[in-house]
Amino acid sequence: RDTLLAGVIGAGIGGTSAAYFLRQKFGKGVQIDVFERGEVGGRLATVKLEGKEFEAGGSIIHPLNLHMKHFVKELGLSVAESQGRLMGIYNGEEFVFEESSWYIWNLLKLFWHYGLNPLRIYMWVEEVLEKFMRIYRYQSHDYAFSSPENLLHALGGANFLHMLNQTIDESLQKARFSQNFINEMVIPVLRVNYGQSASINGFVGAVSLAGASAGLWSVEGGNKLVCTGLLYASKAQLISGSVISVEAKMKSKGHAGGQMKLYEVTYNSTSGVTSDVYDILLIATPLQRKIANITFRNFNPQIPEFSAPFHQMVATLVHGRINASFFGYQDPSQFNLGDIFTMEDPHMFIDSIGMVSPVKGNLSPPVWKVFSNQLLTTEQMNLLFSSYDSVVVRKWLAYPHYSPPEKCPPFILHDQIYYLNAIEWTASAMEMSAISAKNAALLAHHHWYNKMNMIDQEDLHERLKTEL
Ligand SMILES: Cc1cc2nc3c(=O)[nH]c(=O)nc-3n(C[C@H](O)[C@H](O)[C@H](O)COP(=O)(O)OP(=O)(O)OC[C@H]3O[C@@H](n4cnc5c(N)ncnc54)[C@H](O)[C@@H]3O)c2cc1C
Ligand SMILES: *[C@@H]1O[C@H](CO)[C@@H](O)[C@H](O)[C@H]1NC(C)=O
Ligand SMILES: *[C@@H]1O[C@H](CO)[C@@H](O)[C@H](O)[C@H]1NC(C)=O
Ligand SMILES: *[C@@H]1O[C@H](CO)[C@@H](O)[C@H](O)[C@H]1NC(C)=O
Ligand SMILES: *[C@@H]1O[C@H](CO)[C@@H](O)[C@H](O)[C@H]1NC(C)=O
Repeated sequence: RDTLLAGVIGAGIGGTSAAYFLRQKFGKGVQIDVFERGEVGGRLATVKLEGKEFEAGGSIIHPLNLHMKHFVKELGLSVAESQGRLMGIYNGEEFVFEESSWYIWNLLKLFWHYGLNPLRIYMWVEEVLEKFMRIYRYQSHDYAFSSPENLLHALGGANFLHMLNQTIDESLQKARFSQNFINEMVIPVLRVNYGQSASINGFVGAVSLAGASAGLWSVEGGNKLVCTGLLYASKAQLISGSVISVEAKMKSKGHAGGQMKLYEVTYNSTSGVTSDVYDILLIATPLQRKIANITFRNFNPQIPEFSAPFHQMVATLVHGRINASFFGYQDPSQFNLGDIFTMEDPHMFIDSIGMVSPVKGNLSPPVWKVFSNQLLTTEQMNLLFSSYDSVVVRKWLAYPHYSPPEKCPPFILHDQIYYLNAIEWTASAMEMSAISAKNAALLAHHHWYNKMNMIDQEDLHERLKTEL
């Protein structure tokens, strides 16, 4: 047979962009099957409330997420700019910081409270981001990496690897940020984005802080439209089913007598249990028993079990009126905040609460999105809201529970099996999945055509400078 068979497990942003990049690299000569047991989009999902759709999972995209930007343009989708809302930081009793609609006043207040810390953190994040952006240049020259660590090392050297080994708290303390600033400004941002504290690794911490910058956007109509669009553009076949196992098979190869490896994928769908074989397999879901539960058979050495825990995050969308007196307002009519971030406190039962717009159009009175680690009880709902009617709850195993020193799984699990979500242990975000998808498509291509000199090259930054 002439056609190469590629299987992709998972149709989130990782799997669908992988299908797109596989098509780009291998051209017409590859047949691509994408397995999905739930909805296309995965952790990019919307929920319906009051007849409108709202993002319930991954929602904001950074202006310098170039793959996501490219997809939206290529697929003819539109960008929805995120609306700036006044933010307040709540410590469980009162607001330690409140934005006002007067920009200059905010700057003065920030300076008064935190000195140069806000400006310095901006520069600190910029420096990380600038190095991180090197990935686009490497990938446009087809360079690939066999592990998340090698990828980070190629971008930011030993410094980036150190960030995986230490907490964001340690990273920022070393850079001499004040503990007060870390507690009041940094931790609340980490809680909104990853539901975790300053004990997450420094790299995901930096990604999280970049997510507090200006110019954030989302996709009009819902971020998941990127996934359906990429699937269509890749001309891949979607197979609705749940993959149960992957088995390594050997097949002798014509007269030369060489051995060819094949992967048999067994899945469960409405038409029962079926198997198909593939030359190349991309795994685009976390390999965690509670999430994907895929058994690997007949591998020698065995594919290790990746059992690191995932963090639970509950998104509660509420159509109702916030209870301003719960947040310490004597006069609720004075309350004009649209985003409340919270400090770490044992009594705090939410990570954040903020006003959200539907993926298309507007809605008033507003809908609030609450993030919490546990499902909210009726008592808690009655404290947060003075009145409410409709409520939708979506519970996620959202992202890794970060705990440095972070040991990432490898991208390469076997000759032609690639694990995209290994990148999530550096940081989980849509763009990270897209970067990993392109990397996996490049790895598969280089392995297939034996171009090993395109993998794990050192000093790419210097070399590509002179190659200009
Ligand atoms: C509440 C929340 C908020 C977030 N906020 C942001 C944000 O603002 N910005 C941002 O960039 N990122 C955000 N993220 C992270 C982002 O959503 C994820 O990093 C990204 O969507 C992961 O995409 P993925 O394709 O790698 O994985 P997934 O989207 O999880 O896709 C994996 C797919 O595989 C399928 N699957 C699993 N097992 C099997 C099987 N055995 N057989 C067949 N199919 C299977 C699943 O059904 C799923 O559809 C957020 C995540 C959550 C949960
Ligand atoms: C990170 O920690 C691991 C052990 O957990 C160690 O092997 C590695 O050398 C460390 N790397 C850096 C850059 O500090
Ligand atoms: C396959 O799915 C059906 C129903 O969806 C279920 O009853 C059955 O247990 C599944 N089988 C396996 C092997 O997972
Ligand atoms: C994973 O699948 C196996 C069968 O393939 C089953 O025995 C086991 O209970 C499943 N584990 C979870 C956590 O779903
Ligand atoms: C609002 O918050 C206050 C203060 O915590 C609380 O006493 C009250 O019961 C809450 N609910 C309503 C509807 O006001």
